Amino acid sequence: MTYTRMTAAEAAQMIKNGDTLGLSGFTPNGNPKAVFREISKRAIREHETGQAFQVGILTGASSCQSVEGDMAAAKAIKFRAPFSTNKAFRDHTNLGEVDYEDMHLGHMAERLRRGFYGDIDWAIIEVSAIEEGADTCKVSLTSAGGIVPTIARMAKRVILELNHFHNPNSRFLHDVVELAEYPYRQPIPITRVAERFGKDYVEIDAKKIVGVVECNIPEEARAFKDLTPETKKIGENVVDFFLSDLRAGRIPKEFFPIQSGVGATGNAVMKAIGQCEGLPVMNVFSEVVQDAVVDMMLKGQIGYASATATTVTNECLQKIYDNMDFFKERLTIRPSEVANAPELIRRFGVIAMNTALECDLYGNENSSHICGSNLMNGIGGSCDYERNGSISIFYTPSTAKGGKISAIVPMCSHVDSTEHDVDIIVTEQGVADLRGKGPLRRAQEVIENCAHPDYKPLLRDYLRLAGRGHEPQSMTAALAMHQAYLEKGDMRLVAW
Ligand code: COA
Repeated sequence: MTYTRMTAAEAAQMIKNGDTLGLSGFTPNGNPKAVFREISKRAIREHETGQAFQVGILTGASSCQSVEGDMAAAKAIKFRAPFSTNKAFRDHTNLGEVDYEDMHLGHMAERLRRGFYGDIDWAIIEVSAIEEGADTCKVSLTSAGGIVPTIARMAKRVILELNHFHNPNSRFLHDVVELAEYPYRQPIPITRVAERFGKDYVEIDAKKIVGVVECNIPEEARAFKDLTPETKKIGENVVDFFLSDLRAGRIPKEFFPIQSGVGATGNAVMKAIGQCEGLPVMNVFSEVVQDAVVDMMLKGQIGYASATATTVTNECLQKIYDNMDFFKERLTIRPSEVANAPELIRRFGVIAMNTALECDLYGNENSSHICGSNLMNGIGGSCDYERNGSISIFYTPSTAKGGKISAIVPMCSHVDSTEHDVDIIVTEQGVADLRGKGPLRRAQEVIENCAHPDYKPLLRDYLRLAGRGHEPQSMTAALAMHQAYLEKGDMRLVAW
């Protein structure tokens, strides 16, 4: 049996204004690119002739330029969830053009099943191989797991994007499963990071497959910024913290699995960890594996990695494909509802490490919105891990924009992880350990260990000004540093 072959333009022509599209991929990897390049062109054509054309886009996490960047620029996104790291998307969302739900990535499949996004009109899935059965089709996923098992089952129609850029044996990396609905869900049957319990392919009802689009398109993931003196120091501070918790017996000598979030800082910290001596071989239980982790696996510094995507550059992905025998024994790509499952994160005692935009004196953390109003990216899976890990770490350079912004503020302008879910804050200045401390001792620890020297006196003044209370705040001054940045372009110009 051979399914209908079609061009990307023909596939794009089948999508209707108002449709909801569920896509493969997680981060810029594993997304269907060929069809989307045509959908955004089509949106522009429709708009030029006065026709409405907007769709809902649901993915595992963020996606790539060909999906959300070009579609946002074409004003063709009606609704979007759950995460984005794209500048064009951010700009158009901040103009109020896109209805964007910034959601925990581990909740996405469940939200789909419970119908919060309505019907899924189309699943568009990037695959590396297809077994074309009359009743059932079996496909191999590429570089991400994401929400594919759920959208493949729920969607009314399916388009497969067979991307020959990927290794046709990419299935060796996957463990595909869909969790049962509440209240019938059983415990997830793995007790070690390296275990698998699913299949290495996704099964799709063959009747739903409308067509196969063949292409050869590299992933659109970008290379990360190199280590800066700040991110290198943050990494070294994280290692010092690990060593001290190892000495204190809070981390066992076989170590806990680590999670490291998306972004340049996260990748740089992992690189810095890789350059430091004295740590045992670790495992990774995370949502993304970035380039630094792959290099550490090849050097034997990381024993096993479990994630829902290889968010890596094309050169790095090629390294994985070229060493498939090595990686299939050491790397598992899972659906996001398993990779980000609170149950597993808590069971394994994962050490969660994510990047903050700002943290406040008491440990509340903001990773998604700038000065309250404007979206940066979103929370991604950070809260899935931070809430449930055995140690919850946020790191950030102590300042941004050449020192005009302090990452340590009296009160966060938006809160993603609350003070109850943040154990450790790390900047290049040092480490604030908030565990076992009430608000005043936390505030002192955060100011003295993490704030930049330019901001320490200002923050000490604020704390005096805030006065008494269990967790003192001045309602008039709590956001004054943000206001100073908005009005004068520099938080240092705050007047309390
Ligand atoms: N206010 C305003 N801008 C700030 C800021 C603040 N408090 N702190 C940082 N920034 C700016 C930086 O100046 C930089 O912008 P620039 O490149 O124009 O100078 C940008 O934010 C940060 O980008 P970058 O330095 O490239 O860091 P990053 O790639 O590590 O990204 C986050 C940092 C927080 C945006 C990113 O980690 C993120 O989206 N986190 C979301 C949550 C998460 O970690 N999820 C985990 C798993 S999906």
